[in-house]
Amino acid sequence: GAAFAGIVAGRRDRVGLIILDRPQALNALNRQAMDAVVAAATLFDLDETIGAIVLTGAGRAFAAGADIKEMAELSYAEATARDLFAGWDALTRIRTPLIAAVNGFALGGGCELAMMCDVIIAADTAKFGQPEINLGVVPGMGGTQRLTRAVGKAKAMELILTGRMMDAREAESAGLVARVVAAAELLDDVLTMAAGIAAKSLPALQAATELVDAAFDSTLTEGVARERRVFHAGFALDDQKEGMRAFIEKREPRFTHR
Ligand code: CAA
Repeated sequence: GAAFAGIVAGRRDRVGLIILDRPQALNALNRQAMDAVVAAATLFDLDETIGAIVLTGAGRAFAAGADIKEMAELSYAEATARDLFAGWDALTRIRTPLIAAVNGFALGGGCELAMMCDVIIAADTAKFGQPEINLGVVPGMGGTQRLTRAVGKAKAMELILTGRMMDAREAESAGLVARVVAAAELLDDVLTMAAGIAAKSLPALQAATELVDAAFDSTLTEGVARERRVFHAGFALDDQKEGMRAFIEKREPRFTHR
């Protein structure tokens, strides 16, 4: 339907796949793409038979940023009235593990979109950056906050002030990227990883993403206390009994996500 213009969404068993699909514009993130990605991810998140979601881009970009052509002539009043980019916040409330498979350029809003995901896996050809400064603006989808938390002040400041790109290896050693994979193998590798994650207990996965995110938004004391209570709550789940019994019985667990 129209709400999904600009993306392709599908599923393979317990894994949801969302592909940004405007390669002729390097998957620049216009309003339609935002609505479509958020809608698809939200539907997957509400579907208990989906245990992991993969987000990637068609062609030579993950996404080369927010759509410059769509916003170039906006006034301040228009930007604030439509609260430009606020719609993306919904993506950060998704609790199903969301994995960014970064296949090429992840610039500006593209880098910020990858950073909204739970894990970033990069092709060896990927390029990351916050080039907004070259357009006379600052990052607007969380880059100043999430890049700084991901790589620390020194590197975040340098990247944001110069607008330069960094390659996948640099992004990995800086801590932005979990793993680097040969470009030709990226999607297979990430779909396999996602299937492995999706086979685990969904309530445990959801609790884990929520708790790791809380590390960025709470004090250590609050975060550790919250973690301990969520750990205790796990004993109310069938999956806890199954997981621990399977270990003791030296067999693979069969989680029911209950
Ligand atoms: N918005 C709109 N269109 C874009 C785009 C963007 N962010 N990025 C690329 N495109 C379009 C180009 O205009 C071009 O379209 P035409 O064929 O119609 O001219 C097409 O995609 C292919 O791009 P290029 O010809 O530029 O490809 P290249 O290989 O020469 O360069 C690139 C690749 C270095 C990534 C270059 O496209 C580029 O610099 N893109 C813009 C990157 C950028 O500034 N991103 C930040 C955007 S602002 C933002 O994201 C704000 C925020 O924080 C949310």
